[in-house]
Amino acid sequence: MSDTDRFLREQERLTKRIEQVLQRFLPPEEGIADTMPSEEDIRMPLIVAEAMNYSLMSGGKRIRPLFMQLSFDLFGGRNEEMLQPFLAAIEMIHTYSLIHDDLPAMDNDTMRRGKKTCHVVYGEAFAILAGDGLLNRAYETALLASEACHDPNDFVRLVLALRVLSTKAGIRGMVGGQALDVASEGKLIADREETLYFIQENKTAALFEASLMCGAILAGAGVEAVDMMERIGSRIGRAFQIRDDILDVTGEGKTLGKTPGKDAREQKLTHVSVYGMARAREDLLRLTEESIADLSAVGAREDDLIVHLTRQLAERMN
Ligand code: IPE
Ligand code: IPE
Ligand code: MG
Ligand code: MG
Ligand code: MG
Repeated sequence: MSDTDRFLREQERLTKRIEQVLQRFLPPEEGIADTMPSEEDIRMPLIVAEAMNYSLMSGGKRIRPLFMQLSFDLFGGRNEEMLQPFLAAIEMIHTYSLIHDDLPAMDNDTMRRGKKTCHVVYGEAFAILAGDGLLNRAYETALLASEACHDPNDFVRLVLALRVLSTKAGIRGMVGGQALDVASEGKLIADREETLYFIQENKTAALFEASLMCGAILAGAGVEAVDMMERIGSRIGRAFQIRDDILDVTGEGKTLGKTPGKDAREQKLTHVSVYGMARAREDLLRLTEESIADLSAVGAREDDLIVHLTRQLAERMN
């Protein structure tokens, strides 16, 4: 078996496991609010939970939980029961960010992961609520890791990981980046390069940083290693967004699972619109090689899946 085949098989195996982990933490689609026990036990279908699961289980690449798992493995993590709620949590946060990103008030997209977007199927109000539901469910889920804490060190790791996850998903992370992305749309911007950097670093790289850092923290890695994983996440994440910007120009709807050509139409600030296609490709390769150099500095080997995946993302077609 060639190296590439071996990597693909391993990636497939891990992705399947992540799907099972997600299944474990899905919100039930029928029931009453758990906050107060009801004597009458009236069971109602929860359409909003159906909308959450529709988007969550519609076949994303699961790249962020994959990186979290690989970072955990790189630092010799053993307590998988603590890790698994975090694998689900990062994918829930990512999926919520996509549901809201696609709303008419934001990017106004009708196709995602090869299917109709959440608001097209369930309406805008339910898409907004499904996003809110997934964001909250993410922290509910991550906190379930407390049940797998065996000693005070485990609790410290849990709190540190939660701090990272919540900060990177928030205003000093993904939400902050999304806000500037939308605010810059169709505008003449003086400091285009700085603005673009801020957008990419926050809207996209922040969740990659969270993935790699949480994996390392939960495995028991030290502060320096965790800082290094943040640096690597920043580079992998920015490279990921550059590839996304390139694919918006060169990709096909069928392979992408979303509508191409949207960035130009909406006058988005992207790597391609600011620097042009040739420079976008160069920056993508440079960031990828820098990530790999940093990964080897924290002990990853050339034939580790985390290195292979980082390379493969630079050439991905969806
Ligand atoms: C899309 O993320 C949004 C970006 C940050 C570019 P992915 O390309 O990881 O989307 P899924 O999860 O595979 O659908
Ligand atoms: C989205 O960036 C990043 C998020 C935080 C959701 P894009 O708007 O470019 O992502 P796509 O192209 O819709 O997947
Ligand atoms: Mg967007
Ligand atoms: Mg979008
Ligand atoms: Mg895009």
